[in-house]
Amino acid sequence: MKSSTGALSQLDAEYSDPTALQVRIDIHRRYSEKPHDPQADVLAAINLTGAEYLADIGCGDARFLASLAAAGHQGPLVGVDTSAAMVGSADLIPGVRGILADATRMPFDDNTFDVLTARHMLYHVPEPVAALAEFRRTTKPGGTVSVVVNRPRTCPRLRELITAHAATYGIDRTDAPPYTVDADSLPPLMNEVFGTATLLRRDNALVFDSPGPLIQFAESLFTFDGIGPGNPHRSAILTDLTADIEDWFTYHPGQAWRDPKGYLVATATVPE
Ligand SMILES: C[S@@+](CC[C@H](N)C(=O)[O-])C[C@H]1O[C@@H](n2cnc3c(N)ncnc32)[C@H](O)[C@@H]1O
Repeated sequence: MKSSTGALSQLDAEYSDPTALQVRIDIHRRYSEKPHDPQADVLAAINLTGAEYLADIGCGDARFLASLAAAGHQGPLVGVDTSAAMVGSADLIPGVRGILADATRMPFDDNTFDVLTARHMLYHVPEPVAALAEFRRTTKPGGTVSVVVNRPRTCPRLRELITAHAATYGIDRTDAPPYTVDADSLPPLMNEVFGTATLLRRDNALVFDSPGPLIQFAESLFTFDGIGPGNPHRSAILTDLTADIEDWFTYHPGQAWRDPKGYLVATATVPE
C-alpha cells in the first residue's frame, strides 16, 4: 500500500519538528569512527573575520548560527528554512534573524551576503541548480558560498535493512522524498554555477556496538525511506526492525555494526 502523504509533504512533516534531526546530529557526533565535525570544516573553508553578512540556508535548529553568535560574530546573521519551527529556532538567538523561504526563491536583493552556507540541505531541493544560482545571485561578487552534501549511499547496510522492512508493508523508494544531489554529482554543478570550487571530502563510518543507538538512528531516517511521520505502518516497521537489529547483535557477539558514510564540503568564490 502506498503512503497516504506525498513525498514532499513528508519532508515538510519531517522538519516540522527538530527532534529527528537532533537525534541524527547526536548519533553522528557520538558514533563516528573518526572525528565528525562538518561545522568545523565549513568554518575552515569560509575563514570568517566576524564582520561578514552571513546567511545559512536550510539552517535547521540554527545551532551553527548560535555558535557564530556565541563566538562574537558582529556581522548580520540570517537563517533561512522552509520549516517554521526551524525559523523559530533561529529567531530565538540574539543577533540572528530567521526567514521562512525556499532556497530557490529567497527574498533578498542581488549581492546581499558576504558568505552563504548551505549545509546538508541541497539534496532536499528538487532543483539544486536553481538553488545554487540563487546562492550566487544573493552573494556578493568575491563572496563565498559553501555547500555540504553527503557521499552517495550513506549508511547502506542500515538503509537496505530499513528499505527491506518498508517493502513488506508495500512502501518503496517512490514513496520517499527525492534525494537530488550527492558528493559525486555536486562538483560539476558547482563548476556550472561558480566556474570552480574547492573540495574537501571526508570519508568515515558509523560504528555501533549495541542495538539501542542503531535502532534510534534507524527510526530517525524513516522518512527518507518513505516511512513518513504520518505513515500508519511506522510503529509496526519499527517493531520488526528492532527485533532484526537485536537478533544481529545476539548472533554476532563481540562484533560492531559498521556502516560507511561521509560528506563533501564544496566551497566557491562568487565570480566578480
Ligand atoms: C538535514 S537538515 C540540515 C539542517 C542544518 N543545516 C544542519 O546541517 O544541521 C535540512 C534542513 O533544510 C531545510 N530545507 C529543506 N528543503 C529546503 C528548501 N527548499 N529551502 C530551504 N530549506 C530547506 C529543512 O527544513 C531542514 O531544516
